[in-house]
Amino acid sequence: MSKPFIVGITGGSASGKTLFLDKLLHTFEPGQVCLISQDNYYRPRHLQPMDDKGVHNFDTPNSIDFAQYAEDIKKIQQGETVYRQEYTFNNPNKKPKILEFVPAPVVVVEGIFVLYYPELADLLDLKVFIDAKEYIKLKRRIVRDKVERGYDLDDVLYRYEMHVMPTYEKYIEPFKHDADIIVPNNHNFDRALDLIRNYLRSKIK
Ligand code: C5P
Repeated sequence: MSKPFIVGITGGSASGKTLFLDKLLHTFEPGQVCLISQDNYYRPRHLQPMDDKGVHNFDTPNSIDFAQYAEDIKKIQQGETVYRQEYTFNNPNKKPKILEFVPAPVVVVEGIFVLYYPELADLLDLKVFIDAKEYIKLKRRIVRDKVERGYDLDDVLYRYEMHVMPTYEKYIEPFKHDADIIVPNNHNFDRALDLIRNYLRSKIK
């Protein structure tokens, strides 16, 4: 197989990366695209950095096992299948699946820090930044963290103000200017999605 085309999808937390990817990926045939998300490379809870109030901070670049993430992407790039235990966020009762990342003509690398790490950013053939207004991201995050990740409101608001926003300003937003495409997602992203989908299709022989 020839070298895959690697696309990085980034943006602040709750900017809409997952929805964008769901809509993008379901239109490809099985085996055409491999998605490898940064979320599955969070360090275990006991190794997570804490803030000065003793609250785990999942928003520092150090909260990710970046070396393993980069190594796995390079393996996939070289045609090797990679296995990784799913990360189950705040759900200790959820039994994690073993994820299988099978090399494909298009590889999607997704997460809040994929443009931040130079070693990773250098692997990307296309960089996409999903952008949304702050109040929209906060609104999405409140709903998602309650429904999908089981956090209470005080916790969500504290972490948004103390961890998520400072991280966005320091480690995510400055790299927006390195992106090839910035997709505004305040209402919908349908036209940009269509353009990117067609571009990626052209990369599959
Ligand atoms: O899907 P998204 O890009 O929003 O995922 C990144 C976010 O996941 C980070 O902002 C981090 O605060 C959050 N996170 C969490 N609980 C964890 C690990 C990460 O809320 N256990």
